[in-house]
Amino acid sequence: MQTILDLTDRFPLRFDVERMKDDLRRLEDGEWLAHYDKQISNGWTAIPLVSQDGSLAGPDAQRLGTCGRYKRTPVVDRLPYFRAILDAFDCPQGRVRISRLLPHSIIRPHRDICGEAASVVFDQVRLHIPIITNHQVVFIVGRQSLRLRPGRLYYIDFTKRHWVLNDGNEPRVHLILDLTLNDFLRELFPPLTRTEQLQKAVLRWTLPVVWPLFRVTFALSQHLMPAQSLNPRGAEVARPLDTAEGVNSGEIRQDHSSRAIES
Ligand SMILES: [Fe+2]
Repeated sequence: MQTILDLTDRFPLRFDVERMKDDLRRLEDGEWLAHYDKQISNGWTAIPLVSQDGSLAGPDAQRLGTCGRYKRTPVVDRLPYFRAILDAFDCPQGRVRISRLLPHSIIRPHRDICGEAASVVFDQVRLHIPIITNHQVVFIVGRQSLRLRPGRLYYIDFTKRHWVLNDGNEPRVHLILDLTLNDFLRELFPPLTRTEQLQKAVLRWTLPVVWPLFRVTFALSQHLMPAQSLNPRGAEVARPLDTAEGVNSGEIRQDHSSRAIES
């Protein structure tokens, strides 16, 4: 299964980065919500455009809800270009947010499985449209180091282990859309091969069972062997910084970085 796909050329709308930036200037600094999980990042903020109850503030504005019940938040009325983008996605929409990773901040390694299940495997995808980025951003998914370009539309399989480091001096801002695959959205994706169809069927049933078991086992092992692992900053921040040199100007390339952080 593909880890990343650039869907831009198949999408009926082009994404104008300057118009997105114009909309961003309508937002006040105080409107950005800190992520509710401080363990995963302390510099990750968001503006919810579609939330589970249409709320713009509070933890429920960012948490996952029930697909089909999500509502647009009031801020969409003030952001005409983002509203036009939302309108262009003719498919069921889940959580949609403008995500901002502050300078010198990290989103720690994790996978989005179970409730989030951000993968074509689960017919629930998470698409990214980068708006503002810089060359000091390190974005690792599985074994690939990604260099995403502003104004493009990307599918990324977030059931794979991923982390982001913004080591630059300006925020990294993306529009992130959680969407349910329907006929409109499937048209953007290349058809699955027979092997991929089989892989999808296997992963769809095994991942939600195997992954929680793995997490429990891992947590128990950490509890039993604290001396080996109680240095999260050293383990998860220093190593990504080390790997930043390995990211070249190519948009996507196979990379050994994830091996470095998993070792
Ligand atoms: Fe994630």
